[in-house]
Amino acid sequence: MSVPENLLFTSTLISPEVQAALPKGYSIRPLSSDDYERGFLDVLSVLTVIGNISKARFLERFFYLKAHNHEYFTLVIVSPENRIVGAGTIFIERKFIRNTGLVGHIEDIAVDKNQQGKKLGLRVIQALKYIGAKTGCYKVILDCSEKNVPFYEKCGFQKKEVEMAWYCDDNSTKAKL
Ligand code: ACO
Repeated sequence: MSVPENLLFTSTLISPEVQAALPKGYSIRPLSSDDYERGFLDVLSVLTVIGNISKARFLERFFYLKAHNHEYFTLVIVSPENRIVGAGTIFIERKFIRNTGLVGHIEDIAVDKNQQGKKLGLRVIQALKYIGAKTGCYKVILDCSEKNVPFYEKCGFQKKEVEMAWYCDDNSTKAKL
């Protein structure tokens, strides 16, 4: 399926029901190569440190993800002022188990501080679950802090098992892939 040059993945994977449920003037769509200027990274900064990412570096990552857009789906909510106000990603893992099943991993959910409480976070999650279902995942999972558990429960998730993490000693670790 052909995807416009500026979009990360096909818009046919964006749930029409989620689009219809957004507040007036807001839209939801795949990440675009122009979203650097629309404040995509500023929205992600509600999550953690972003670092000093140039437009060139943003585009390098964008086009890597686009070349793998059967695995990485980052979508955004755009405000009536044409600013990015919400974002989220689902990464589709291909397993051997479960009859070579697919698992969706939800990552990096963020809503602009001034826009929180308008159900935009809920819409991002609903849209990512739609992609998970459409692509044939048998489950969609995520890690979150204790304080966000009530939010994800409202999005239809249940608490299951425990997240564990290991951080490399070398904090300056650079990607070698
Ligand atoms: N505790 C309890 N309930 C909550 C919380 C919370 N922390 N956050 C939202 N809710 C409830 C809302 O009250 C609402 O309930 P209602 O339907 O009864 O009215 C429902 O969840 C939906 O809330 P939204 O308005 O969609 O939430 P919002 O747009 O503010 O987005 C989000 C929530 C994404 C957690 C946002 O606050 C945010 O960006 N926080 C900072 C970054 C962050 O923590 N991201 C998640 C990291 S985990 C991950 O990425 C997998």
